[in-house]
Amino acid sequence: MKLLLENMQKSALMEIKEAKDSSSLESLRIKYLGKKGKITDILKQLNNLPLEERPELGKIVNLVRNSVQEELLKKENELKFKELEIKLNSEKIDITIPGRRNNTAKIHPLTMVTREMEDIFLGMGFEIVDGPEVESIWYVFDALNTPKDHPSRDLQDTFYIDNDTVLRTHTSSVQIRTMEKRKPPIKIIATGRVYRRDDVDATHSPMFHQLEGLVVEKDLSMSDLKWVLDTFIKKFFGEETKTRFRPHFFPFTEPSAEVDITCFICKGKGCRVCKNEGYIELLGAGMVHPNVLKNCNIDPNEYSGFAFGMGIDRITMIKFGIDDLRLLVDNDIRFLSQF
Ligand code: PHE
Repeated sequence: MKLLLENMQKSALMEIKEAKDSSSLESLRIKYLGKKGKITDILKQLNNLPLEERPELGKIVNLVRNSVQEELLKKENELKFKELEIKLNSEKIDITIPGRRNNTAKIHPLTMVTREMEDIFLGMGFEIVDGPEVESIWYVFDALNTPKDHPSRDLQDTFYIDNDTVLRTHTSSVQIRTMEKRKPPIKIIATGRVYRRDDVDATHSPMFHQLEGLVVEKDLSMSDLKWVLDTFIKKFFGEETKTRFRPHFFPFTEPSAEVDITCFICKGKGCRVCKNEGYIELLGAGMVHPNVLKNCNIDPNEYSGFAFGMGIDRITMIKFGIDDLRLLVDNDIRFLSQF
């Protein structure tokens, strides 16, 4: 019996030492110390021995059981530590790996410029209104005092949907829509796409963007128009920017002007960007023609108005030094991500 116990102890301790993980350790615990375990079994058998042999053997069994228990505990701790280490190693974060780049979207340069322009006009008390791109010829031409034989109405220049419907050639149509709906005082801007038949090149596109302005009030004069445009231009292009008004013709304004600004690159000295002019053409403007007011049931003897319209694409190109209009619509991420 003693020998049996000694051998059992030896093999138990060996097996425990060699256990590879907690679950195999647990089966060893059951094998030796469980309800039907080998050591438990011997403890039970003690009862069958002669009385005088029991104390000595009992002592030995207890010693064996204790040593096995101790070894189990030791091994259990050892295994726990090892397993934790393996877990930690597998979960280790390598802080030297480059992070995943979060590609957030950016505002398109045209939208950026549009918003910046709108902000300046909002600061001057203008309200932003909107109008449709598919428009009736009444709003695009007739109400704007543009006669049937005007070149802008030509099939060659304009996208007709049917005889009465066109893709608007300018945002001036929003002037009429606003005056039809509201009574003066009116002080609005409108931005959006406009369409003209044009072959695409670095400075031409059949679709571009405009910002329109309209003010209708009593006693307005050309000097009010000049103040508004001068204030906008100085805010947008810088305080040092000068404006130049040149007489021009538009059917819907009288008098009309084209407005230039001193070149923002050379400040008026003349350079490549302004083709040595010192000035860059920026927009069209004028006092609202009495016929236009009449078309909208506004009495030209009581009210006066001024209006202006400018190309947002062109202004965006000037602002960022972009030399090809097509870049703005090509959707090339390498170009767009620069802004
Ligand atoms: N609608 C004109 C154009 O597209 C610009 C303009 C607007 C001129 C308002 C005068 C007044 O060229």
